[in-house]
Amino acid sequence: MIFEEKEIRLKDGRTCILRSVRREDAADMIEYLRTVSGETDFLLRNADEVTYTLEGEGDILENKRNAPGELMMVAEADGIVAGNCGIVSRGNLRRVRHRCGFAIALKQEYCDAGLGTAMMEYALSLAREMGYEQVELEVVDGNDRARHVYEKMGFRESGRVLRSLKYDDGSYRDEISMVKLFD
Ligand SMILES: CC(C)(COP(=O)(O)OP(=O)(O)OC[C@H]1O[C@@H](n2cnc3c(N)ncnc32)[C@H](O)[C@@H]1OP(=O)(O)O)[C@@H](O)C(=O)NCCC(=O)NCCS
Repeated sequence: MIFEEKEIRLKDGRTCILRSVRREDAADMIEYLRTVSGETDFLLRNADEVTYTLEGEGDILENKRNAPGELMMVAEADGIVAGNCGIVSRGNLRRVRHRCGFAIALKQEYCDAGLGTAMMEYALSLAREMGYEQVELEVVDGNDRARHVYEKMGFRESGRVLRSLKYDDGSYRDEISMVKLFD
């Protein structure tokens, strides 16, 4: 889905544009994915598992842009992708079409400046306008900053996947499921 572009000012004075993703973002998005995957253990992927081709990634972004019931939001700062978040449909079956999923990641240099909060506020308002009744997400146990932001936005814990992630050193981490109900 394509939504209205918005300019926001971060706590440190930098500005960002929040906008729908475009096919032309493909190279920048691949670089962004490699960067964020290498900067934190709180995402699903290792940096060496970002293996998209330019054309494949372009197709994914184009599909996201045009998918009704889904959105991918880019935070653009100084002409590059500083962060990204998405609303993902759970499908069109009548019993699940009231639900959507949410995920977000920012480059480290843009963390802690209010960007995540601003992106979530905008994405959640769009999810509501799209007709969803609840938004669901997972957060890795120990990701206290993300959990704090999610709780601030009205999410609450709804379950836990034990040993959800296994790291290269053999250690595990649980994932906590959270939900925000729009009522
Ligand atoms: C999680 C993330 C999206 C949050 O976005 P952000 O722009 O950094 O967050 P904001 O600046 O909007 O807000 C940060 C809040 O967390 C608080 N915070 C910072 N570090 C914290 C910590 N270790 N424990 C608890 N709270 C913390 C800040 O004080 C601030 O609180 P406030 O809004 O009540 O003042 C972003 O940090 C990120 O992408 N991190 C790396 C990838 C990631 O973890 N993604 C989420 C996967 S589930």
